[in-house]
Amino acid sequence: MSGLVSFHDYSAQASRFREDVLQGLSQPRKILVPKYFYDEVGSALFEAICALPEYYPTRTELALMQSHAADMARCLGKRSALIEFGSGVSRKSRLLIEATQPCVYVPIDIACETLRTAAESLNRAFPDLPVVAVCADYSAAFELPSLERFGARRRAMYFPGSTIGNFDPDEAVAFLARLVKLAGAGGGLVIGVDLRKDKAMLEAAYDDPPGVTAAFNLNLLARINRELEADFDLRQFRHRAVYSEVRGRVEMHLESLRDQVVRIGSTSISFRSGETIHTENSYKYSVPEFQALAACAGFTARRCWVDDGGLFSIHYMEC
Ligand code: AVJ
Repeated sequence: MSGLVSFHDYSAQASRFREDVLQGLSQPRKILVPKYFYDEVGSALFEAICALPEYYPTRTELALMQSHAADMARCLGKRSALIEFGSGVSRKSRLLIEATQPCVYVPIDIACETLRTAAESLNRAFPDLPVVAVCADYSAAFELPSLERFGARRRAMYFPGSTIGNFDPDEAVAFLARLVKLAGAGGGLVIGVDLRKDKAMLEAAYDDPPGVTAAFNLNLLARINRELEADFDLRQFRHRAVYSEVRGRVEMHLESLRDQVVRIGSTSISFRSGETIHTENSYKYSVPEFQALAACAGFTARRCWVDDGGLFSIHYMEC
């Protein structure tokens, strides 16, 4: 890697995974946290989801970024420290980097290998741009490496993909409040937020006919088998996605197809037929709903871009 790329590994040890899985599966209503989807197989499956015709968010957000990058750059200003949460393969960020010419780009992601590859490929595309890659779980508190030496004018934060939708609304407020602290007064945020819409369209986006999302969801059990000496039989679970209009969220579950006992190391977990593991929430917000939520965290909404179909929103907010 070039001298302009540095890599910081703040990722938790593997033991957290075991604790979180055992804790989540011993609740009366079994749950697993979505951040564990993203091992190498899961990250690749997620990229495949993004290319599905049913999964409208990625292409809609990318098109919005393409149409409005210059406008967003006017909001963010040039020569900032551009900090991205959940950067993945950094596809959308390239547009912001080109438009805003930051002093430094700080991609943060929980998937270390994906992040490493993305940082290297960014370095080839933007050889003069310093990249400070941080492998971390940004849903837990963490420190950023010092960015002083880059002399940025302000901190510009980027949180695309509607990943904010993985948090419950109260957690989302707490997370955004941490961003306000991280950027300080004068900081800016560009954030992608999926909009509320028709139930059928949402459920198709999270339960595609070829079964890519099902494979993504089931990979969580495969990962537990691989990493935690477990014996989930993947044929005995099925993927489910349901939109709750009242809660404004798509829920993903893995449903047990029969009464069964699964071993994870020395622990046994029993499932009743029809019982589910709740693996993900994906909240959808109207524009005013999200603006109100962000205001609770200390952000002032300045701009909002929405596609003609009314599917997806990108907000610009200031601390
Ligand atoms: C990465 C959390 C934004 O909620 O749409 C896609 C993850 N899960 N299909 C989403 C996901 C199933 C995605 N986020």
